[in-house]
Amino acid sequence: MQINPKIIKNHFEKSLDKYNKNAIVQQIMAEELIAEVSNIETYFENILELGCGTGLLTNELAKKIHFRNYFANDLIEKSKFYVEKIIPNALFYHGNAKKIKPLKKMDLIISNAMFQWFENLENISLHYKNILNKEGILAFSTFSPENFREIKELTGLSLNYKSTKEIKNIFEKNYDILHIKEFTHTLNFSNPLELLAHMKNTGVNSLTAQHLTFKEVKEFCENYIKKYPQITLTYSPIIVICKKH
Ligand SMILES: C[S@@+](CC[C@H](N)C(=O)[O-])C[C@H]1O[C@@H](n2cnc3c(N)ncnc32)[C@H](O)[C@@H]1O
Repeated sequence: MQINPKIIKNHFEKSLDKYNKNAIVQQIMAEELIAEVSNIETYFENILELGCGTGLLTNELAKKIHFRNYFANDLIEKSKFYVEKIIPNALFYHGNAKKIKPLKKMDLIISNAMFQWFENLENISLHYKNILNKEGILAFSTFSPENFREIKELTGLSLNYKSTKEIKNIFEKNYDILHIKEFTHTLNFSNPLELLAHMKNTGVNSLTAQHLTFKEVKEFCENYIKKYPQITLTYSPIIVICKKH
């Protein structure tokens, strides 16, 4: 399933003030991503962060990684203010990350919990290769097809997630893969409505909450309890660090 960037922007914009409290897994992913990058290098001249949102990753990065220039991007204009609170002199590019053309070449391009929205990773791989300096690092986290498997099994709705193997095959054409790891994190809720609220508050309700009527929500909740009495929601992040050939 492909989601229009306008819908993504709309949903994330609405979730901004509740995002940090609810983005438990995205926070774990940000910490993991930064731990892996800082194992490789702790100084980069120019850093570009894509889909910076409320600055979860920016915050983790600023604790461990040093840099001269920081460039940040998001579809949402308000993200600029979140990033500037952490890195006051960051330069913000508002718009679609897949079209970004920064004035400088970058030494690190980094992104947390955003690449799953890209529909053509082959083009993305090449596009960012052209923006990186020689031996520049591309570090990102995304999700595997196991992500939100409960939602997929119940509704048939899912993004076109790529597997770890598919991601490896795509990116190794332009990069050396330094690290690639998939893990699972399961959240539990008291009831399906709480789960739906969690998805809304993290901006990932583009799949479920589009036009659900009261009857559909009721049905969804009943089916969820029947099939998943523990009211679980599975996240399956993938962390990828690669170096330009
Ligand atoms: C799940 S949030 C992650 C935010 C942040 N990276 C973090 O670590 O919490 C995804 C963010 O990516 C942004 N986004 C999604 N698709 C985008 C695109 N094509 N270009 C730029 N930003 C995008 C959304 O607006 C949202 O702020």
